[in-house]
Amino acid sequence: MQGGRSKVMRSIKDIEVHGKRVLLRTGLNVPVDASGAVGDVFRLTRALMTIEYLSGRGARTVVIGHLGRSGDSLRPVYEKLASLTKTSIRFFDGAFDAARAEAEKLHDGECLMLENVRRDDGEEKNDLTFACTLADLGDLYVNDAFADSHRVHASIVGVATLLPSYAGLLMEEEVSQLSGALTPPSGSIAIVGGAKFETKQPLIEKLLGLYGKVCVGGAIANDFLKARGLNVGASLISDILPPSELVHDPRVLVQSDVVVRSESGARTCDAADIGGKEAIVDAGPETTEAWGSLIAQAPLVLWNGPLGVYEENFTAGTDALAQAIDTSARRAIVGGGDTLAAIEKFSFDSSQVFLSTGGGAMLEFLSTGTLPGIEALG
Ligand code: 3PG
Repeated sequence: MQGGRSKVMRSIKDIEVHGKRVLLRTGLNVPVDASGAVGDVFRLTRALMTIEYLSGRGARTVVIGHLGRSGDSLRPVYEKLASLTKTSIRFFDGAFDAARAEAEKLHDGECLMLENVRRDDGEEKNDLTFACTLADLGDLYVNDAFADSHRVHASIVGVATLLPSYAGLLMEEEVSQLSGALTPPSGSIAIVGGAKFETKQPLIEKLLGLYGKVCVGGAIANDFLKARGLNVGASLISDILPPSELVHDPRVLVQSDVVVRSESGARTCDAADIGGKEAIVDAGPETTEAWGSLIAQAPLVLWNGPLGVYEENFTAGTDALAQAIDTSARRAIVGGGDTLAAIEKFSFDSSQVFLSTGGGAMLEFLSTGTLPGIEALG
């Protein structure tokens, strides 16, 4: 449904859940270090909105989700989640086909969290047998995992075709906010950073049809500078360079000054003055000041992707944008896993700034107007 509007989803707010067995797919994919410490609780605090809603209305909820790509245990995530809520929630680390007996023990208002669904081979294959095992755990299914709904997996798509299916509160909020980003008021601006131009090209093209200006930062800006014929030295470059209609579109703004790094250290320079052995690692202050002025004037700012190599402490450009949004944006929608990690030190006013839990899901929703997990609901 390229460029279309996503379907109208049925909401858990429209149904009676008291005493019902609810299979809740939620977003639990958070950073967990080798010692089992959860690095960022943003997705968990957002997931609690629907968990607490269901519990407060007397549902018997079975919570499912994934962590990482190698079937890591969800136990540390469970422990962190349980520490953030008063809701009664237990963890079951047994096999999925043994979970039904455990779920039968739930009382009204109680929750049971199961192990990482990616431990079953059927999850990523959207296998019907695994989807049936999951469907057996609920009278109804709720998808609240917006961040995972670009995956055609059994716990996202397969199970939704087997049970009466509804959107959770976070899913509804994400879809509503990001749908708003697809109908921006005149004069709105979009900022797209990060790496790998090929993954961002559909989004940039889509946004150019909707936004007055699209500011390109991060490593993908290197691609634009190179395609404009500038020397980008040893900078990270994508496999595919932007096509000339994008490169020369006056609505695409690319950083005019940059921070570069070489063996002799880091310096700020004009984007036309990069040495052969230097690599761009951040946007410069002239750029962030200019983009900050655009942010202050725009009725809506959409931002996905950090401007610099923030994991190596080149955070000034990203911080300057976050600061500008915090102090002067009238309304902003910000997302992408890397972006949120880069700006976690800011505490935005949630009535003005919406932080999406979506990484790849946000990009795909903005590019296509829907996600497989949304289409499967209803
Ligand atoms: C994410 O972190 O973007 C989602 O949870 C999806 O995770 P995945 O890329 O491992 O499917």
